[in-house]
Amino acid sequence: MTLTVVPITPRFGAEVSGVDFSGPISAEDRQGIVDAMNQWGVCVFRGTGLDNASHIEFSRNFGHLEKAPAVKNRPRRHPDHAEIFDASNLTPAGEILVDEGMVLHKKGDRLWHTDSSFMTMRSAYSLLLAYEVPGEGGLTYFADMRSAYEDLPERLKTLVDSGQAEHSLWYSRLLAGFPISIEEIDSRPKALQPLSLRQEATGRTAIYIGSHALDVVGMPREEGQALIRELIEFATQPQYTFGVRYEPGDMVMWDNLTTMHRGGDFDIFNERRDMRRTTVREGDAPLEADDPFTAYFAASVPET
Ligand SMILES: [Fe+2]
Repeated sequence: MTLTVVPITPRFGAEVSGVDFSGPISAEDRQGIVDAMNQWGVCVFRGTGLDNASHIEFSRNFGHLEKAPAVKNRPRRHPDHAEIFDASNLTPAGEILVDEGMVLHKKGDRLWHTDSSFMTMRSAYSLLLAYEVPGEGGLTYFADMRSAYEDLPERLKTLVDSGQAEHSLWYSRLLAGFPISIEEIDSRPKALQPLSLRQEATGRTAIYIGSHALDVVGMPREEGQALIRELIEFATQPQYTFGVRYEPGDMVMWDNLTTMHRGGDFDIFNERRDMRRTTVREGDAPLEADDPFTAYFAASVPET
């Protein structure tokens, strides 16, 4: 079947139809999706009919899948599918989450970020599948980091061409109001990342930044954080962004190496939002799924 690719904005994002999700996809469709991702950065697939198992199988077409972290004393919502990252506002029992710590932790996802930039091994594609959606809000917003890079003023382009930043998951949690001190964050693991990434397939460069970015190497903390804020503000101007509204069954696939995203507000204490994500590791990774996240979280959470 031929894929149909309809742009969402002139330079960024596309609705893709014509994929048969009922079984393994053809090599042709796989290539068509990779090409669409290279061109548009974000692809939206409507009414996929996927479930946990077929979501994972579909995702495996695009590389090595990450495993969601096992969080101490917190059972998984999807114990039979370790590759499913739970992005819902629900407890493992399926009730709306009211635990204040978890609510604040998840609030960090509302800030502009790129998945797992706090890990040395970067994530490439994320594939987010909607199961239950709120009546109002709960969109995901995306920012085009390649077009933003191309439009940067020379002063900023020079800085991001050679600069590096340190990223910490806990810094975005602090920004979102999670109770943690900067000293504590400094004692936890960080990942060093370049401020820009060149995409081999297209030759285009993207700003690689987000709310996990804490420091710019070689700059005083305040100056670095001001630069990070300036870059995020620049890249999230309306001409680089759009929002996706979901119906159950819809799936969005984005490239973390060329985009940023954030979750939109909704009534988290009264509305259910069940979203599940698979994540594809950058580059050639072992076929056997590994799990660097559990070690990261173990190193980040003091023993109690
Ligand atoms: Fe995310």
